[in-house]
Parts: sequence; structure tokens; C-alpha cells
Amino acid sequence: MYLGTNIISLIIVLAILVKVTELYIRNQPVTKSRRYSSYLVGTSETTRVISLDKKEIRFNQWLAGLIDGDGCLLLSKLGYTSCEITVSLADERILRIIQNKLGGSIKIRSGVKTLRWRLHNRTGMINLINRINGYIRHSGRFIQLSHVCAALNIQLLNSDTLHKKHGWFSGFFDADGTINYYFKGKYNYPQLTLNVTNKLLVDVIHFKNYFGGEIYFDKSHNGYYKWSIQSQDLINSFVEYTHICPVQSIKRNRLFLVKEYYRLISLEAYKALEGTILNKTWNKFNLKWNKPNLS
Ligand SMILES: *[C@@H]1O[C@H](CO)[C@@H](O)[C@H](O)[C@H]1NC(C)=O
Ligand SMILES: *[C@@H]1O[C@H](CO)[C@@H](O)[C@H](O)[C@H]1NC(C)=O
Ligand SMILES: *[C@@H]1O[C@H](CO)[C@@H](O)[C@H](O)[C@H]1NC(C)=O
Repeated sequence: MYLGTNIISLIIVLAILVKVTELYIRNQPVTKSRRYSSYLVGTSETTRVISLDKKEIRFNQWLAGLIDGDGCLLLSKLGYTSCEITVSLADERILRIIQNKLGGSIKIRSGVKTLRWRLHNRTGMINLINRINGYIRHSGRFIQLSHVCAALNIQLLNSDTLHKKHGWFSGFFDADGTINYYFKGKYNYPQLTLNVTNKLLVDVIHFKNYFGGEIYFDKSHNGYYKWSIQSQDLINSFVEYTHICPVQSIKRNRLFLVKEYYRLISLEAYKALEGTILNKTWNKFNLKWNKPNLS
């Protein structure tokens, strides 16, 4: 009897110990695995299950490129997520395209000549993240995405592999690209140049990998990297790419005019004397080239 109660108490104590340890052990992996799963990085190929049509996929890729270049993904101290995209006043059209699909609001930033689209509605944010997750690849933006994914309990996806029909390039070009011509050298020859600039080499290298050209380091503005193409072949191939994955900023006006530019350069229209039809044609071309918004 005496021994019996002792054994029973021992069993009870053991049972409690087991329970406590079990609870302890069970709680450990739960918190751990939750933290792990929200930072878990899958590959978009295996995890992206929703099949979308190509146009919609390219739109999402374009949007990720634009956000990589001109946007930010925010997480407030209270745990609210939001996204902002800032563009020049002339590019209101871009923000309308996004607003039509994703909601959010557009406001002019007082004092500055920029427009800002902002989304903070949770349902809208989940929709946005599901669209761009797996396409975001800018080093800074990817970190922001990881925080926002964790807050929304969405599995973070690594950036997918780029290719020459991937919409990301057009979105990043909309954000951080330029196209213009400059008179160069002692013969004052016009040189058409297409650039994409960014702070870090890793964020512009993709353009060189897929469209050729060169990357330069520029010491001004605290230093940045510039991808640049100047040859007619390379510029034409980028323009061809934009026929598949359209650029949506006002820069597209110049991309539409590239063919005419080369035609007029081959006729040396820039040297045509005042009063000639060729000079008039060149002047007209330049009005179109410099027009902020054709549409
Ligand atoms: C949030 O967004 C969803 C879909 O984008 C919309 O249906 C809903 O009305 C929005 N809610 C608020 C409070 O704006
Ligand atoms: C683009 O790059 C060229 C060549 O480096 C440079 O001369 C030009 O100023 C750049 N254009 C812009 C708009 O940054
Ligand atoms: C072409 O015409 C414009 C304006 O009429 C003039 O300013 C320009 O100098 C002319 N070009 C040449 C090469 O003479």
C-alpha cells in the first residue's frame, strides 16, 4: 500500500513531467516552424499554382519591375502593410492602370512634381503580394517583401529566372530607364542611348545579361551603376522586346519613334539646312520626341 501510493505519486509526477515536457517541446517547433514558414523561400516554379494567362503574368512581372525600381513595400510598427509607387506627373497613366486592377488611391505630393499611388487595404495587399511574389528581385525591395509576406502570412518566393519575354524588364525600365540621343564627337554625330541606372550592380546586371551592352560606374550622386546600350542592333532588339512586354511610361513614346529616328539619321536630317523639307521633317520629329505625352 505504502509503496503503492508512492508509485502512484511517482507516476503522477512523471505524467506531469511528461505533459510539461511535451507542451514545452510541442510549443517549440510551433513558434519555430511558424517563423520558418513565413520566411521560407520556395521556388516560384513549384509554388505558383494559379495558372494565369500570359498577358496577366506579364502584367504582374511588369508591376514587380516597376515596384523594384519606383516602389516600396512597407510594414508599420503596428503591423499594417502598404505599398507605394511614386512616378512623375506625366506618368499618371501608369498609376491609373494599376489602380484599375488593384484599387488604392492616387495623390499628388505637394511641392514635388510627383504622383503617388498608395495601397493599404489588407485584401488589396494580399492580392498585390500574390501577383508580385516570385518576381521581386531588387535587393532592397526583396527584404521589404520578406517583412510584408511575414506580416500577411504569405510564403515568400525567391525571384524567378528572367528571360527575354519577361515583363520585369519593362517595369524596371519604366522606373529607372532613360532613352535619348546626344551629339557626340568632333563630327557632332547623334548617338541614341538607352540607359538603366541603379545603386547596386546586382540590380542592373540583368539587363546586360539579357540585352547585351555595357555597365558603367558613375561617381556622381554618391555612386551608381548604369547599364547602357548604344548600337542600333541592341536598341532594336530592346524595342522588339517592348512589343511583347510593353513599356507604359511616357518613355514608350520615344521607343515608338526609334525606327523613325534611325531613318532620319540615315538621311542625315540633323544636318539638313534650314528651309529644306528634310530640316522641317527633323524639326517635326524632335517635337514628337520631346513631347511629354502623346496619348
Ligand atoms: C479593400 O479592397 C477590396 C478589394 O480590392 C475592396 O473590395 C474593398 O472594398 C476594400 N475595402 C476598403 C475598406 O477600402
Ligand atoms: C546615358 O548614358 C550615356 C552614356 O554613358 C550618358 O552620356 C547619358 O547622359 C545617359 N543618359 C541619361 C539620361 O542618364
Ligand atoms: C533646321 O531648322 C531649325 C529651325 O527652323 C534651325 O534652328 C536649324 O539650325 C536648322 N538646321 C540646320 C542644320 O541648319
